[in-house]
Amino acid sequence: MDTIVVLDFGSQYNQLIVRRLREQAFYALMMPHDVSYETLSQVEGLKGIVLSGGPKSVYHEDAYTLDDKILEGPWPVLGICYGMQLMVHMSGGEVQAAPRQEFGEALIEVKPDPLFEGTPTPQKVWMSHGDAVVRLSQDYTALAAHEHMATLAIKHRSKPFYGVQFHPEVKHSDYGRQILDNFARNICQATPSWTTSHAIETAIGHVQETVKDGHVVLGLSGGVDSSVAAMLLHRAIGKQLTCLFVDHGLLREGEGDQVMKTFEGKYGLNVKRLDVKDRFLKALKGVKEPEAKRKIIGGLFVEVFKETALTLGDVDFLAQGTLYTDIIESGTKTAQTIKSHHNVGGLPEALPFKLIEPLNTLFKDEVRTLGVALGLPHEMVYRQPFPGPGLAIRLMGEVTDSRLETLKKADTILRDIIAQEGLSDDVWQYFTVLLDTKSVGVQGDQRVYDEVMAIRAVESSDGMTADFARLPWEVLAKISRTITNDVRGVSRVVYDITSKPPGTIEWE
Ligand code: XMP
Repeated sequence: MDTIVVLDFGSQYNQLIVRRLREQAFYALMMPHDVSYETLSQVEGLKGIVLSGGPKSVYHEDAYTLDDKILEGPWPVLGICYGMQLMVHMSGGEVQAAPRQEFGEALIEVKPDPLFEGTPTPQKVWMSHGDAVVRLSQDYTALAAHEHMATLAIKHRSKPFYGVQFHPEVKHSDYGRQILDNFARNICQATPSWTTSHAIETAIGHVQETVKDGHVVLGLSGGVDSSVAAMLLHRAIGKQLTCLFVDHGLLREGEGDQVMKTFEGKYGLNVKRLDVKDRFLKALKGVKEPEAKRKIIGGLFVEVFKETALTLGDVDFLAQGTLYTDIIESGTKTAQTIKSHHNVGGLPEALPFKLIEPLNTLFKDEVRTLGVALGLPHEMVYRQPFPGPGLAIRLMGEVTDSRLETLKKADTILRDIIAQEGLSDDVWQYFTVLLDTKSVGVQGDQRVYDEVMAIRAVESSDGMTADFARLPWEVLAKISRTITNDVRGVSRVVYDITSKPPGTIEWE
């Protein structure tokens, strides 16, 4: 398949370049900026290279650079921001700290060129740079400008090399998507063939080649990633897959049964449900501190999974629903924010199995599309994020069976009302939180001293930042009334009006 490689120079937008290309059906991959010419040459169907932006300055000693043989190779190149400055610098031109830094929107004039086909002049683009190209070498000519700068896009005089100072991958660049499409289609002559069925076939082919007649074990949680991984593996290797569903009792009402109904009942997967709620509650007894709860749950999960996986007998592989984002964010040399995402992070180290990650070339939205194409129910594929430690971190203080029941009842009421009111697709995430404080109330002329339930509902696109959802007053009133009427032991309902930052989405 035709492929475009994005070389990562550390820009916060570099994943977006890959995503935009894939959205236009061009298969794209990200590789580190210092990849060798030889490694790059081995990429199947390589049609072109994009050099991403980055936080450094090309003239600094520790600047990220590029194997210069790459620019002698047969591939078209598009440099974005730092990428363009690097191309200029490497060809003998000059880059300096800009007298006028630019962050935000700018209006630029572009010259007619296949790179700008179908886009107007002037056009609005998104800038984010402190340095600027002040002199081009003989090799390059300018393609775009505005009143302060004459080299906002450049083109090589004899090779298919382009550079843009702005960020076409960012939505605020009005024609950015078209420019990336033009680069892939017109300059690289790549064929847009990255479709969902192609992604499924590729992943299935890869699993079959790797696993052969071996056996695979997968931790199925009911979350999107492990659910899609399970369906994909099942398509690829059928009964050679065993799913372990560690039911720690901290899922929402009915979720455990739903997992079994879908995977075992509807699709005939081999799923073992491990009913270990009592072990989890015992381990959590008396524990109130949030991080301690998280650690206990994570540790016990690994222990239970390991115990069972080792008794299955002939297991060769451990499958995980790791996504491309996880790989990029934890694996690149230049990334500024490194996170450990894995809910079941301890598993690969704890088990003597080879690792297989069938989703590790895909972004979350691609995984969702795949899930639907593989037959998973819409509500499972588009479900809200749910933390690995489950309801234990939505219940302040000690986790007990009766407090879990109280929380589950309130959560079900909230979810039902949001659904009845037709708001399920409007609010990004919503749940109830049982506080560890009591308050005075009056019920049927009697004084009561009961628990407090908080409602958390947020708008967000990725969970990194969030704003509290402006739920209509009448809906909040209905939620409050139903919870205080129907959930025993709760006498007060409060609405959380904190954004992230400074708050987080979950309370613990
Ligand atoms: P916070 O509370 O950090 O949450 O603002 C951001 C998003 O991540 C979810 N979350 C988790 N997801 N394992 C997960 O897979 C976890 O341990 C975890 N903790 C928080 C949270 O629900 C929100 O969507």
